[in-house]
Amino acid sequence: MLKALDLEYVLPTYARQDLSFVSGENARLKDDTGKEFIDFTSGIGVVSVGHANPVASKAICDQVSRITHISNLYLIEPQAQCAKKIVDQSGHDMKCFFGNSGAEANEGAIKIARKYGEVNGEPKRYKIITLEHSFHGRTITTVKATGQAAMHNYFGPFPDGFTYAKSIDDIEEMIDDHTVAVMIELVQGEGGVQPLNRERVQTLAAMLKARDVLLIVDEVQTGVYRTGEFLASNLYEIEPDIITLAKGLGGGVPIGVVMTSKKEVFTPGDHGSTFGGNYLSTAAANSVLDILESYKESGELDEMFIYFETALRKLYEAHSDLFTGMVGFGMMRGLRVKDAESLANLINHSRENGLLMLKAGRNTLRFLPPLTITKEEIDEGFKRLSDAIAAL
Ligand SMILES: Cc1ncc(COP(=O)(O)O)c(C=O)c1O
Repeated sequence: MLKALDLEYVLPTYARQDLSFVSGENARLKDDTGKEFIDFTSGIGVVSVGHANPVASKAICDQVSRITHISNLYLIEPQAQCAKKIVDQSGHDMKCFFGNSGAEANEGAIKIARKYGEVNGEPKRYKIITLEHSFHGRTITTVKATGQAAMHNYFGPFPDGFTYAKSIDDIEEMIDDHTVAVMIELVQGEGGVQPLNRERVQTLAAMLKARDVLLIVDEVQTGVYRTGEFLASNLYEIEPDIITLAKGLGGGVPIGVVMTSKKEVFTPGDHGSTFGGNYLSTAAANSVLDILESYKESGELDEMFIYFETALRKLYEAHSDLFTGMVGFGMMRGLRVKDAESLANLINHSRENGLLMLKAGRNTLRFLPPLTITKEEIDEGFKRLSDAIAAL
């Protein structure tokens, strides 16, 4: 019945599983038949504080019972508080703009960079270098920013000015008089949970600073403690000019942020969003930020990262015939699988066993559990994954 409704009325942009979830609790989910699942996906890195987190749910309900939305024509208390929390937790001297998604945050980043390149110097600078295998979103411009040729079928003509580097070592020689920015993910998420080398990123950041080319770091997936620090930029010890956030920030409520140290570039009228930063999304984000900040400060987050990594390594070492590599940081992890068919079978068997798993790139089994996952949920998830491997 639900499947028929979906097929008849929803555009078929996703290859959907015939599964419908009705409730959850932290890293556990229940479907409409009563079957229980462990969630190692957190809705693709979104449900950072777990499903139905009681503290976040209460903060959201309290907020919407008073006021949900008024527009950005007025002061919005939780928005200003949220910007302060993000800036404080990042340690960067920046200001924030609020949108509703990762792609929208990246659009904002591209606009800031292009305006910076237009008002600073002759000739006008507008080109942005991104990396092959990157992923920056699904709007026309962020699709073009994405360094995957398969994403550039149809939809053209695209905005001009995006070029793709094979690796960060190739970026310097690609810079020309029109280059204004370089945009990278520090751990490529969709591209296969591929971390960039820390020292080479630091060298790149220093070179860009010296040449007044802006560094945009897309932290839509890596941000908000996913890799262990508030930002992956903190982990890499770099100071980007522009950073974007989304996914885990709202714990499931849509929100996107572009933050920048170039605080004077945008002036009134340059950018906007009807919904961006409203009471609902920023109240949710404030709650998520408070929960995760104290979780990190108490040492529990790091303890759970180590526990997760230990379980992952054990599984990896026990199946050297199936897995060819272990990648990632914190709770953004991947196991390289020997071939695409085994990976697809493993994800299907996992789901049948009551475990939700993701794929990234061509051959990576991806782990993005809620950051608040418990030891018991980790153990149960890995047990189900082991059973799925045994059934291959
Ligand atoms: C690094 C990165 N940037 C941008 C996006 C796009 O975010 P959204 O789907 O919220 O527009 C994603 C989504 O997977 C992402 O991983």
